[in-house]
Amino acid sequence: MKKSRIAGTGSYLPENIVTNADLEKILDTSDQWIRERTGITERRVAKEGETSADMAEVAAQRAMKSAGVNPEDVGLIVVGTTTPDLVFPSTACLLQARLGLPDCGAMDVNAACSGFMYALSVADKYIRCGDVQTALVIGVDKLTAMVDWNDRGTAVLFGDGAGAVVLQASDEAGILSTHIHAAGRHSDLLGVDVGVGTGFKEEPRGGVLIKMKGNEVFKVAVRTLGRIVDETLEHNNMEKTDLDWLIPHQANYRIISATAKKLGMTMDQVIVTVDKHGNTSAASVPLALDEAVRSGKVKRGNILLLEAFGGGFTWASALIKY
Ligand code: UT7
Repeated sequence: MKKSRIAGTGSYLPENIVTNADLEKILDTSDQWIRERTGITERRVAKEGETSADMAEVAAQRAMKSAGVNPEDVGLIVVGTTTPDLVFPSTACLLQARLGLPDCGAMDVNAACSGFMYALSVADKYIRCGDVQTALVIGVDKLTAMVDWNDRGTAVLFGDGAGAVVLQASDEAGILSTHIHAAGRHSDLLGVDVGVGTGFKEEPRGGVLIKMKGNEVFKVAVRTLGRIVDETLEHNNMEKTDLDWLIPHQANYRIISATAKKLGMTMDQVIVTVDKHGNTSAASVPLALDEAVRSGKVKRGNILLLEAFGGGFTWASALIKY
């Protein structure tokens, strides 16, 4: 059976930087509180009219360039996003046309902050079963479009961006395993409680806004990520000491360091971008991966553990020989 490997990575961040000092002007918050409780110092906010497809298009082009892949080579596009440009066509279909891809399968996966990890898992399976040779996998979100700028509990957390990878069939394992989970029973702790089915045609009362019981989410996230890293290592008969890098979802520095501690890793074995990006939802893991590759930290042959946790709840991981 074929395996899939990461042939190239790419990412995109909007130009506009919003600092904690900027947020101090509009919210009852402080730079000190935000840094101490989250590790965030700034985040990028997409400009009016700049959409998920716009951000994803640039990230995808960069990933294809770094992989040396032409549009006609791509046999599948999977986009993890919670903020599609349209209800349909999917963001994947919009991108397929913009990027000049062939008439390959194109789909969005909505798993909130775990969206990229879910998309990676889907594309990996298509390559393993031999149906697809080259897949484009993207994580993109514009969560700031759904942020309640009056709610200090959420407004300070989120940023926008996109990250992408090109997966290719390979005889040698690159992606060693992927693991996906969900627990819909926790849907009241984190979500956006309007949609087409709730009468989206009427102006939604209060707007389309993210609602989160942050402290409860925090506790579940730490526990759940602790479990999935164990599951991932056990599945591959690997020890914590076999890992070179942890590339975690960038929601909160305290959640990231709890997972690193559980793995016995020092923080210099962890890719941290939450300070500069905030929580970019489905984009956070591929953005961190791309930064780590381009900065020369992550090298070919390194063993990487990727993980994410988000609304749903959803959570997912991948063990990768880069
Ligand atoms: O990516 C998807 C998954 N999402 C997450 O993983 C997010 C998980 N949650 C978190 O990261 C943290 O829970 C937060 C950063 C959201 C909040 O940190 P916390 O330590 O859990 O704070 P808290 O919600 O327990 O609030 C503590 C206090 C409260 O004040 P009182 O009631 O003690 O007087 C809040 O009102 O901090 C207050 N607070 C703030 N103060 C200043 C909440 N947000 C702010 C703020 N600035 N921005």
